[in-house]
Amino acid sequence: MLKGTYPLDRFQGLQTPFYYYDTALLQHTLDTIKEQIRNRPQWKVHYAVKANHNPVLLKQIAAAGMGADCVSGGEIRAALEAGFPPEGIVYAGVGKADWEINLGLDAGIGRFNVESSAELQVLAELAAQKGLVAPVSLRVNPDIGAHTLAGITTGLAENKFGIYHGMVEEVAREALSLPSIRFCGLHFHIGSQILEMPDFAALCNRINDLTDKLERHGIPVADVNVGGGLGIEYGHPNHLPMADFASYFGTYKRLLPGLRPVHFELGRSIVAPCGTLITRVLYVKEGLARRFAIVDAGMNDLIRPALYHAVHRIENISSHGPEMRYDVVGPCCESSDVFGKDVLLEECSRGDFIAIRSAGAYGESMASQYNCRPLAPAYFSE
Ligand code: LLP
Repeated sequence: MLKGTYPLDRFQGLQTPFYYYDTALLQHTLDTIKEQIRNRPQWKVHYAVKANHNPVLLKQIAAAGMGADCVSGGEIRAALEAGFPPEGIVYAGVGKADWEINLGLDAGIGRFNVESSAELQVLAELAAQKGLVAPVSLRVNPDIGAHTLAGITTGLAENKFGIYHGMVEEVAREALSLPSIRFCGLHFHIGSQILEMPDFAALCNRINDLTDKLERHGIPVADVNVGGGLGIEYGHPNHLPMADFASYFGTYKRLLPGLRPVHFELGRSIVAPCGTLITRVLYVKEGLARRFAIVDAGMNDLIRPALYHAVHRIENISSHGPEMRYDVVGPCCESSDVFGKDVLLEECSRGDFIAIRSAGAYGESMASQYNCRPLAPAYFSE
């Protein structure tokens, strides 16, 4: 949202900090994705619930006809409550507990993305006990790096995720031999906040090599799930308010042609731009070498800058004063409770509203009550 378009009168009556979601931008994003894959009826996007499980947003995304990508029993419950059909739910995770597997089986979810042979055996046993056949994809560790933050790569051999690509054939044979398992395909994910399309192209090449090899060896791969990972422009939310879905889907259209269904698990690119963390300036403090804007949101509300050195654009949406440099810091008792250093902001005074932009993904969903701070509530543009 552009400065000047925030409903400051409405904000005046609200306790800060809070998340503010632009549901019109979310709808525009959902419509854009639909448009991009309109001519691929066998493609399906599953929203990655981990990015934001706010029920209002989940309902809006479910109503747009997307599936859900879940990584816990809690997320499966949240997705079902929001109206995602069970057959549109895919469930990944290296450490699925028995109760979570049972929940997925009872709900009739569309796919278990299995990450090890040990997990496959437990799933087979639990499904057999219920007289069910579990639909399974094997999560492949493709050993492909992505140009992104070190803390959020997932596709390297050294990461804990998936089955090393050289071992997948063996586990696929095991899956085919288990009567309570229906082997359907392969699942991949190389990381998050990826802006370079060649990274996704490398994944496509790996997928094509592996599916060709398995099929040559008599193992049918009915569909593939390419995971998520499309990044957004954190530095320019006003000029580039939406992820580059055309380039992203274009890469897959070019490199994964054919009739095999393709599943996507986008999280950040769907919800990050529509969310803003709104906080107030509590104090302005002059240090020896720095000027601090101390705000009432903390790392417990939005941990990305502290955890990954992630950069979010910060704006003073109340002030029209001259621009000055500030370290924007929160109240938590940690030196890492910093939202941005040397940030150029229009002159800050106590009570000014500060907008921390592009906070719709991995903001509210990663919030904690550290320092006994209450969870920030959410408000919506409509
Ligand atoms: N599929 C799988 C298997 C995943 O592990 C993830 C994200 C996604 C899909 C969705 O990826 P997305 O489209 O959102 O990039 N907390 C970090 C991001 C962690 C991502 C974890 N996995 C952050 O704040 O940047």
